[in-house]
Amino acid sequence: MPSVYLIGFMGSGKTSIGKLLSAKLKMPFFDTDELIIKKAGKTIPQIFNDSGEAYFRGLESAVISEIALAKNGVVSVGGGAVINPDNWRQIQNSGTTVYLQWPLEVLQQRIINDKNRPLVSTAAELKKLFETRQNNYKKADVTIDCSEGMSPEQIVDQIIKLIKR
Ligand code: S3P
Repeated sequence: MPSVYLIGFMGSGKTSIGKLLSAKLKMPFFDTDELIIKKAGKTIPQIFNDSGEAYFRGLESAVISEIALAKNGVVSVGGGAVINPDNWRQIQNSGTTVYLQWPLEVLQQRIINDKNRPLVSTAAELKKLFETRQNNYKKADVTIDCSEGMSPEQIVDQIIKLIKR
């Protein structure tokens, strides 16, 4: 089976859902943020602080190229990665893209106090970022309309059903 890329805003559960999905599909799991941390030897806030967002995005693109060219599995993709058209092309050409769509209010509640996400500031800033990214996320092959009542297992089952179509 081709790789499955989970995309969507911060807090949408790409990592936790991705791990469950990889176990069910018996495919390896990759997380672009984890690979960036390994490459840099620093946390994401440290990378942003020491070298800025542009440097972070460079590492992110390098990690995506490595995965797209040489790896097959379930991939959790950092929320800002798909904004870069070159990243998007590589992702799209090497697997199926799945957008985990949640209402903004749910995402805001989950991430508003998260110190590990440098792009999180005020609720108003998050709303702006969320809105500007919608068109990118909506290009995914499959959109999962998640709501608070859905369990991770239900989301995973829905993903499997839709990617096998
Ligand atoms: C970012 C999302 C984060 C991480 C970085 C920037 C973004 O990943 O890559 O903090 O631009 O939305 P998650 O989507 O896994 O939180």
